[in-house]
Amino acid sequence: KGYFTYDPGFLATASCESEITFIDGGKGILQHRGYAIDDLANNADYLEVCYVLLNGHAPSQEQYDDFVSIITNHTMVHEKLANFFRGFMHDAHPMAMVCGVVGALSSFYHSDLDITDADQRKRCAHRLVAKMPTIAAMAYKYSIGQPFVYPRNDLSYAENFLHMMFSVPAEEYKVSPTLAKAMDKIFILHADHEQNASTSTVRLAGSSGANPYACIAAGVASLWGPAHGGANEACLTMLEEIGNVDRVDEFVAKAKDKADPFRLMGFGHRVYKNFDPRATVMRETCHQVLSELGVEDPLLDVAMALEKVALEDPYFVEKKLYPNVDFYSGIILKAIGIPTSMFTVIFAMSRTVGWCAHWDEMLTQPGQKIGRPRQNYTGELNKEFKPLDSHK
Ligand code: CMC
Repeated sequence: KGYFTYDPGFLATASCESEITFIDGGKGILQHRGYAIDDLANNADYLEVCYVLLNGHAPSQEQYDDFVSIITNHTMVHEKLANFFRGFMHDAHPMAMVCGVVGALSSFYHSDLDITDADQRKRCAHRLVAKMPTIAAMAYKYSIGQPFVYPRNDLSYAENFLHMMFSVPAEEYKVSPTLAKAMDKIFILHADHEQNASTSTVRLAGSSGANPYACIAAGVASLWGPAHGGANEACLTMLEEIGNVDRVDEFVAKAKDKADPFRLMGFGHRVYKNFDPRATVMRETCHQVLSELGVEDPLLDVAMALEKVALEDPYFVEKKLYPNVDFYSGIILKAIGIPTSMFTVIFAMSRTVGWCAHWDEMLTQPGQKIGRPRQNYTGELNKEFKPLDSHK
């Protein structure tokens, strides 16, 4: 019993080596392939960031154009995939649908897939990055009973997603440049975050040589929880529950009460013990979007009051519980008109490129082994098994 180093939640154990993303949580630094996140968020678009994550360096104009053309050529999904949606209950959570349908992609790309071939692995990543917005928008359309909208390849990645979400046969949705830009920033800020629960899940699933589309579905499942990607949905639900600024203190007190399991959603991070650098960009974007749109959202007042209390209250200060990326992203998504149930789906879409980059990196690392953690057994031993008829 108890022979192995026990590190619940991997607080101090590196599960791999990686060249993709660097985080210094104490200093609030996040870099992808050596590029600072605020630099990327302010100067690149999401597909450039995808290129950086998948290829290790910024693209030249020619490489970028080529990449955009590859991604736009893969945005369609097989018509048969629509049948999978029709099997879901009309009120199924969109994450449940995305998890199932992404897993189902493995049935379209399996028999001739050779994951030892670098080009084929790249193609998997391209397909997934391209098809995730289509699948995400299909989940939304199915949930509200509207027909699926086909992708438009003349639009940017973010514009096309908004088009597939909000166009209806009678009326093409006019994509506002402000909203498309904000959407693109949300995609960038969620693109990768090294060995979080969902990325580690993808790596672990992939370490057995499993089909990559099934591995990404495992990542979607892991992301869904409220302690991870589900926090943006949980955060907005919490802001709605608080409702007005007068009730902020009551909820802060609940979060501090150890007898109450309630936590302030959108606060705290396993790695950042300083401001989350993604939250800094998201906060600015949030204010920009709301002022450009002229949106006066009372939830923003609640959010700002909550942020102020939490940044000043000794409980949050001592425990270094700063607002994280999901604290602000929900408010922006709400302003764009995205329903709360789609928030985590958007996180999954954005993170798909990170999952693919890690899956690909893992498979090329020398000495790559199947992930197989050990355990310290705490149960009983050497008991005698009594057959059923001896229990009389
Ligand atoms: N509200 C109140 N207390 C908190 C909170 C919170 N949001 N987060 C942590 N604490 C307290 C916790 O009770 C514990 O107190 P004590 O030391 O007295 O027992 C202490 O702070 C440390 O918490 P922990 O749970 O041991 O920390 P962790 O690193 O395991 O958890 C976390 C990190 C993000 C799961 C947690 O802070 C949390 O549940 N936050 C709310 C959910 C959330 O916003 N998640 C999104 C994370 S960012 C997006 C992503 O990358 O997925």
